[in-house]
Amino acid sequence: MQLPLKLERQSKQTLQNQLFEQIRSLILSGKLKPGTPMPATRSLSEQLGVSRNTVLLAYDRLIAEDYLQTQEAVGTYVNSYLPPDSLVLKAPTQPLVLPEKPQSRRHPILFRGRAQKVANSQRSRLAVDFRVGRLDPHSFPIKIWRRLILRHLGAGGANLTEYRNPIGILALREAIANHLGPARGIAVTPEQIIVVSGSQQALNIVARLLIAQGTRVVTECPCYQGAAYVFESYGAQLHPVPVDQYGLQVSKLPLAPVSLAYVTPSHQYPMGSTLSLKRRVQLLDWAGQVGAYLIEDDYDSDFRHNGSPLTALAGLDPYDCVIYMGTVSKSIGAGLRLGYVLVPEELMEPAKTVKALLDNGNPWLDQAILADFISGGGYAKHLRQIRRMYLRRRDCLIAALKYHFGEVKLSGLEGGMHIVWHLPPDFPTAIEMQAIARETGVGMYALESGGAYDYGYKEYSERTLLLGYSSLPETQIRAGIAKVAAAFLKVLGNPPVKSKLASS
Ligand SMILES: Cc1ncc(COP(=O)(O)O)c(C=O)c1O
Repeated sequence: MQLPLKLERQSKQTLQNQLFEQIRSLILSGKLKPGTPMPATRSLSEQLGVSRNTVLLAYDRLIAEDYLQTQEAVGTYVNSYLPPDSLVLKAPTQPLVLPEKPQSRRHPILFRGRAQKVANSQRSRLAVDFRVGRLDPHSFPIKIWRRLILRHLGAGGANLTEYRNPIGILALREAIANHLGPARGIAVTPEQIIVVSGSQQALNIVARLLIAQGTRVVTECPCYQGAAYVFESYGAQLHPVPVDQYGLQVSKLPLAPVSLAYVTPSHQYPMGSTLSLKRRVQLLDWAGQVGAYLIEDDYDSDFRHNGSPLTALAGLDPYDCVIYMGTVSKSIGAGLRLGYVLVPEELMEPAKTVKALLDNGNPWLDQAILADFISGGGYAKHLRQIRRMYLRRRDCLIAALKYHFGEVKLSGLEGGMHIVWHLPPDFPTAIEMQAIARETGVGMYALESGGAYDYGYKEYSERTLLLGYSSLPETQIRAGIAKVAAAFLKVLGNPPVKSKLASS
């Protein structure tokens, strides 16, 4: 079946958006009936003369918004359970003349921003998903959590009915302070800590304190989408500074005044490098010189696979300029929405006020449980267990890649929950590899779809694939890479000479 679609290459809208809109309106106008099979992505891409990935991405969005459904061995078709007739636009018998919209007297919406895609609508469809930064649901300490819930509920009393300190309950702030000393080399008191709903809230608090329209903010390039999008939404003027295998290239930092720099020194997101000690010291000196605050996002430093972790920037800071963010999203579970932020003394009072204005504090029960889990030693034990598990999974992924693809160039191996695969020039681009993998039910991610912000630099976005290993048992890791290798061979037919694929 050929669909009546026409894409305008001159349009300001992307091809993918045009395709999404046109298919959606065919469905809403009843021209494509519920249950109608959709053309295969390959034939539609040929019909329209666009890349297969454009069609795949448009289909993905239509699936995510429930216009299309997909079923293994059947294919993609128009959702059979679309809203009742009343919601479906009927094709007008005469050209539709819309009444002129009365001039709105409402105030314009001032917020400008975009949200990163944290939820994965593809997840259920993928047999093996190497999505970055995910935990294995089986690793959640469910037994202890159940026991702690019951204990604290029973003794909760007024804690459950009254407001508590918006910056977090003291027991949790004490537990965090005691953990950070030995784990990250940061000497901190509970008074300097604010408990937050994950790093995302910490970023919003800091942005609210320091960013107005046009404020210059340095970020790593590439960097974490979640941070860059928050800064943008407050009107920041982003100033990207490239990273290499030793982390942020400190020598390329601007000398003009900068309010804030956002960095991931333990395990650069997404490229995985660790900022060397020399550069840490230089970065602090730079911040001292230009009067910038540094946000240190220490999201996955609990997982150091080679050598000991380097002391956090916050533990080396002579200028009291580091805002340190930690989260339990990578160690216990992102569903808990708990993290913490340490702020320099002069920011503490306004930061407390912002936190109170935002939500008057995190749920007491969750905080009490986490406090007990950390101070009772359960957290340290849990970290040891999952660290071992992640290391095994990392090694398994490296071995599987080498087995199927020969001498692969990888980085970001020293720690964290994902590795970076640098594709050789004779391989398809990262987006194409992502599409090849997806077609065979495997999720591998080019930078942008892996939650990174690459500032449009092709050298990063075209040759880099992100592979998270933390959520996948070794059998799945091996099966996933084998599937991609087979699909790669089938699509390319002519594998790179040095690759093992050639001889297998
Ligand atoms: C660089 C980085 N920082 C922070 C986070 C965690 O955010 P949160 O604590 O809001 O879940 C992530 C999660 O993917 C991340 O990749």
